Amino acid sequence: MRQIFVVGSINTDLSMAVDRLPRLGESVYGQGYMQTQGGKGANQAVACAKLGCPQVYLVGAVGADADGEKLRACIAKVGVDTGGVTVKPQAGSGVCVALSERASRDNVLIVCPGANDALCAQDVEEFLRTHARVGDILLVQLEIPHEAVLTALRCAKEMGMRTVLNPAPVRGEIGDLLRYVDFIVPNETEFASLTGCSADGSGLQAGARALHVAGAGTVIVTLGKRGSVCVGEETFFVDAVPAEAIDTTAAGDTFLGAFCTVLARGGGVREAMEFGARCAAVTVTRRGAAESIPFLRELSGK
Ligand code: RIB
Repeated sequence: MRQIFVVGSINTDLSMAVDRLPRLGESVYGQGYMQTQGGKGANQAVACAKLGCPQVYLVGAVGADADGEKLRACIAKVGVDTGGVTVKPQAGSGVCVALSERASRDNVLIVCPGANDALCAQDVEEFLRTHARVGDILLVQLEIPHEAVLTALRCAKEMGMRTVLNPAPVRGEIGDLLRYVDFIVPNETEFASLTGCSADGSGLQAGARALHVAGAGTVIVTLGKRGSVCVGEETFFVDAVPAEAIDTTAAGDTFLGAFCTVLARGGGVREAMEFGARCAAVTVTRRGAAESIPFLRELSGK
């Protein structure tokens, strides 16, 4: 089995549920406050480890504070190697406020990046050069500085790795990244922001074509309750697995972690998307971020 390297953010999530999101100037009551480990990078690394990849590395940054210590311990506990997590004394550890709305069964997130913004290209390059091998997988998102993302992708391609970009959140131009990307996996909103196209019918094909022309490989768009769609050598849909969703936080991260885990064991793209759908269907039935991601043993029929 190949190794997976996740380069990305590490946050403490402050989450609560609200009946509906407040309007500007309004206060509403929240329930079920939780303080847990989150961050897209950390969640995706945790997903890979929980879902069966024996060698997962997280490359990221935390502050020199108690939260940073706690986050690292929490991530390591599920089997992620945190040797690539550096401590940045100049900033506090990243924080995210997550509100899940009962009415829509969806959520909103506000991220305060802190130490994540101090992760530098050199940290990333040094770690990949000393640990990664040909055929290993790099998974990266956009919650860290652009230079760190670019270096991770460039370095991974130079080393013969397969690369997966989850362009979340979309914060600016990513055209210079795309030629190093084998798989780009946005959700519908991110796909629309990146391409100006909706993720259906001719919009899907036109948007995917624009990403291909810019250098990206296979495009996989996650469509929430409608499943996911792959536009590459062939175009095909994979259905979502029906679930009673109570909190969608980390559903996308679960899909990405599951997807990479299947690639790491030599599986194909369709199989990877189907496994992603099964795993994300469990995550949405639980509250919180990383701890809502299932272990492989919790999936029925596996
Ligand atoms: O994808 C969910 C994650 O995004 C949360 O855990 C939050 O910390 C933000 O990074």
